[in-house]
Amino acid sequence: MDLRRIARIVDTALERIAGASDLAELSVIDTEVVGRRSQISVARRGIGALDPSRRKEAGRAINQAIRSLKEAIEQRRVNLEIEAENLLLEQDRVDVTLPYGRLPRGTHHLLTVTMNEVCDIFRCIGYQVAEGPELELAWYNFDALNTPPTHPSRFESDTMYVESADAEARSGADELLLRTQTSPMQARFMEKHPPPVYVVVPGRVFRTDTWDATHSPVFHQIEGLAVDSDITFGDLKGTLAYFAKEFFGEQTRTRFVPHFFPFTEPSAEMLVWFNGEWLEMLGCGMVDPNVFEAVGYDPAEVTGFAFGMGVERLAMVKHSIRDIRHFYENDLRVLGQFR
Ligand code: DAH
Repeated sequence: MDLRRIARIVDTALERIAGASDLAELSVIDTEVVGRRSQISVARRGIGALDPSRRKEAGRAINQAIRSLKEAIEQRRVNLEIEAENLLLEQDRVDVTLPYGRLPRGTHHLLTVTMNEVCDIFRCIGYQVAEGPELELAWYNFDALNTPPTHPSRFESDTMYVESADAEARSGADELLLRTQTSPMQARFMEKHPPPVYVVVPGRVFRTDTWDATHSPVFHQIEGLAVDSDITFGDLKGTLAYFAKEFFGEQTRTRFVPHFFPFTEPSAEMLVWFNGEWLEMLGCGMVDPNVFEAVGYDPAEVTGFAFGMGVERLAMVKHSIRDIRHFYENDLRVLGQFR
């Protein structure tokens, strides 16, 4: 056994170990340089065949060579593990300055915002908020509200009647329709609750209107009703003028002009002075005693006022929106302006 040959084997092996570029390659090299069939192992097995005088020296040299190779492999393994770990950290690094796929933030629709605003104003002065059905009986939409069978709003040119399985059997007050106003909730609410009543009712209403800049066959209203033992027209004016200031601003001026609605007597329209003109903002009046009778209230015991306003109209005036169709076309360039 030539000691120089052993030194050469070791040198070559050390070079290969140092050159291993990853753990898998190192493991292959490990087997090849110190495994059972490696040159050095073969040399060790050959020691027995040597001349006894040389065995000791050769044995020591070979053992020393194997030990240094194993150490070198171990050292290289540790280094490769650290390198692999660092590489992983480097690849996993998060660049917090990169833009990410942000979801656009949503918002309530302006009509929802407006309804909430109005309801909040009334809630703050003690009103409850209630909602009613969109599919309604003619009784609640018309009869209970003192609207005679001949009233023009009942014609099909204004009201959308709904066919039902028992349509044949339905007539007059029993007919089904899409409510043309939120007013039917006045009757429904009073039927269920004894006085006093202070309630506002936001909701969707339907008419056979043709779609244009100021009309839509579907729109929204907010109804209001106050019934108590001694409510006067002064309460009506005070409440609604207060509402107008809260909604449009402290400087808002209001005016009440006579009008007609079947379910109130007297009836009025409230106008608001806005951008240099008087604009009709809502209908109102003192609840007609016939309505109290229809719902089982005693007209001798209670008085009240009612009002109804169009939500689209309120929003259009407040935000200078010229075309009602903007509310329904869902163009984000429009809707996004009202966050
Ligand atoms: N319901 C009426 C409409 O749609 C609005 C209205 C007027 C409601 C007077 C009322 C009221 O409660 O008292 O035109």
